[in-house]
Amino acid sequence: MKLKNLNNRVVLITGAGSGMGRATALLAAQRGAILVICDRDEAGLNETARAIRSLGNEVFAQTVDVTDPEAMDAFADAVHARFEAVDLLINNAGIGVLAPFLHTKPEDWDRQIAVNVKGVVHGCERFIPRMIERGAGGQVVNVSSGAGYFPSTVMTAYSVTKFAVLGLTLNLRIELRPHKIGVTAICPGVMNTPIARTSIVRGSDPDGQAARVRSMYERRGYPPERAAQKVLRAAERNRAIAPVGPDAHAMYWLNRLAPPLARWVSARTTHLFD
Ligand SMILES: NC(=O)c1ccc[n+]([C@@H]2O[C@H](COP(=O)([O-])OP(=O)(O)OC[C@H]3O[C@@H](n4cnc5c(N)ncnc54)[C@H](O)[C@@H]3O)[C@@H](O)[C@H]2O)c1
Repeated sequence: MKLKNLNNRVVLITGAGSGMGRATALLAAQRGAILVICDRDEAGLNETARAIRSLGNEVFAQTVDVTDPEAMDAFADAVHARFEAVDLLINNAGIGVLAPFLHTKPEDWDRQIAVNVKGVVHGCERFIPRMIERGAGGQVVNVSSGAGYFPSTVMTAYSVTKFAVLGLTLNLRIELRPHKIGVTAICPGVMNTPIARTSIVRGSDPDGQAARVRSMYERRGYPPERAAQKVLRAAERNRAIAPVGPDAHAMYWLNRLAPPLARWVSARTTHLFD
């Protein structure tokens, strides 16, 4: 799918009220796309919609919680009343809980599975069938993480959900190929987005850990605007797995070439929770 020029292409992005979702929406708008955006955070969503309109693009924005099947049904109905099908579907909404397994609470598992896994499933269920029916192909992008192919013991449940997104993506990629719909997993490393502030942190010293994590995100964090360029490029090339940022690339190749060494490196990151 050619994405340099997105004139009149419909690009749908979940979680577009902040971070990489917002940056990707704005980049797609600069390339001429019609944007369909949603987020559960109304204020953030409205800000993104305003920025898109100020570029002169058409945008349809709806406050939606991706975990809510009925809200997602209503959103899909509203989108399909306006557009036959979307051209590029980006399931980006996600949340983080920074906690090793032994500090992770049952509700952390439930919430992360609901948003990071079921939220992506809900997006795929509601928008892919119409892409197939239209018969003009398209592209699906699911946002996983470097923690989706690499053990990240400071965020075990998060990592598990992102492994699941990667698994879903690789399966869908095969299933949708006959319909000429490409499917890509985006796997960012550490990006400097508000997620570092909004994530729940659990451990023996949550305040200290949160401060260390935030400072690490600020120091090492990759700009979401640069990540947005990688998202559209990976979608254009129909990459199966697209690591984003130097740390994600390093861990991707280390994990492939020397898995024991990758696990040794992963073990060194637990100092954030010492
Ligand atoms: N920031 C990082 O270091 C990093 C690294 C790897 C992967 N990711 C992934 O990238 C994606 C974007 O994250 P970001 O860093 O831009 O974070 P962010 O917090 O800036 O943006 C996430 C957006 O998703 C929205 N959202 C959360 N739950 C939702 C729900 N239930 N329904 C609708 N919207 C919801 C939030 O309101 C927010 O606007 C996420 O899937 C995240 O897991 C981030």
